[in-house]
Amino acid sequence: MRIGPYFLRNNLALAPMAGVTDRPFRQLCKALGAGMAVSEMTSSRLELLGSVKSRRRRDHEGEVEPRIVQIAGAEPEMMAEAARFNVAEGAQIIDINMGCPAKKVCNKAAGSALLQDEALVQQILAAVVGAVSVPVTLKIRTGWDREHKNGVAVAKLAEAAGIKALAVHGRTRADLYAGEAEYATIRAIKQAVSIPVMANGDVADPVKAKAVLAETGADALMVGRAAQGRPWIFREIGHYLATGEFLPAAAAAELGAIMLGHLENLYSFYGEFSGVRVARKHITWYLKTLPGAGAFRDRVVRVESAREQQTLIRAFFADQDITELAA
Ligand SMILES: Cc1cc2nc3c(=O)[nH]c(=O)nc-3n(C[C@H](O)[C@H](O)[C@H](O)COP(=O)(O)O)c2cc1C
Repeated sequence: MRIGPYFLRNNLALAPMAGVTDRPFRQLCKALGAGMAVSEMTSSRLELLGSVKSRRRRDHEGEVEPRIVQIAGAEPEMMAEAARFNVAEGAQIIDINMGCPAKKVCNKAAGSALLQDEALVQQILAAVVGAVSVPVTLKIRTGWDREHKNGVAVAKLAEAAGIKALAVHGRTRADLYAGEAEYATIRAIKQAVSIPVMANGDVADPVKAKAVLAETGADALMVGRAAQGRPWIFREIGHYLATGEFLPAAAAAELGAIMLGHLENLYSFYGEFSGVRVARKHITWYLKTLPGAGAFRDRVVRVESAREQQTLIRAFFADQDITELAA
């Protein structure tokens, strides 16, 4: 897939997830087969941009290109300013968030709440596209609610405004995360525009990935929650799409090495105190799929130092015969 001048090495993307897709996780997913990864959203409120959290979210050092930064907000001029700011800081693609139903975003009538106001959508897209020379992409849901699925109209607006690629989550804003994603609207959107479309929502394994690509006709897939604790899902999906065969399960030694490498990067990115805390949720996700890991998980998420975390995890992977467990 191509976004502006960037040819991605495959059609699998890591979805932006606030609190999850920090630089260490993006790097890990890219190393394990994702062709692109979108940052956590950053606010368009310039007064927030100096905060430690905001600065960390803009840290792309060593990241495999293209560096994609997502911005969220509802005021065209502020969004344009945020885009300019992030490009000056190294963003190579700006992604606009009109897909997130989170309260914090929607209370300010940003994220997916914007889908209700197509005139404002148009103004925001025009302002951001006009503000920067890098490609601008857009992430949306299928509509405001099930009676107002205006995804096709918004997609056409986006194409006309110069948006270079579109990611569509197959739920409406009102659905939040309930029920199952539906792909018919994504298919209709794909058919209505000629810019690349990425299908998103509930892609959790290689078979589903293939089915969603077939059902939507989309150019690419975007995977979010299924990559939590399973960053190797990208190579599993990639292999299956390319060969029709399942990749053998990762060996225990490799799983342990992936986790420990991830933790190491978290400690150096956040510093030990915060790194240990951020690591806890990833450890919980990694261990979720491993039967019998519950008691160990309760123990490991309580320790306070990087060394203790690492020692416990090393011992866990050395002790167990878990070769089969990652399947
Ligand atoms: C913890 C979490 C944080 C998210 N943060 C964002 C975000 O910052 N921007 C955005 O556009 N979508 C965000 N999303 C939505 C995801 O990008 C994605 O559209 C959604 O999870 C559906 O895909 P999935 O079924 O593969 O997870 C978030 C989702 C989750 C679970």
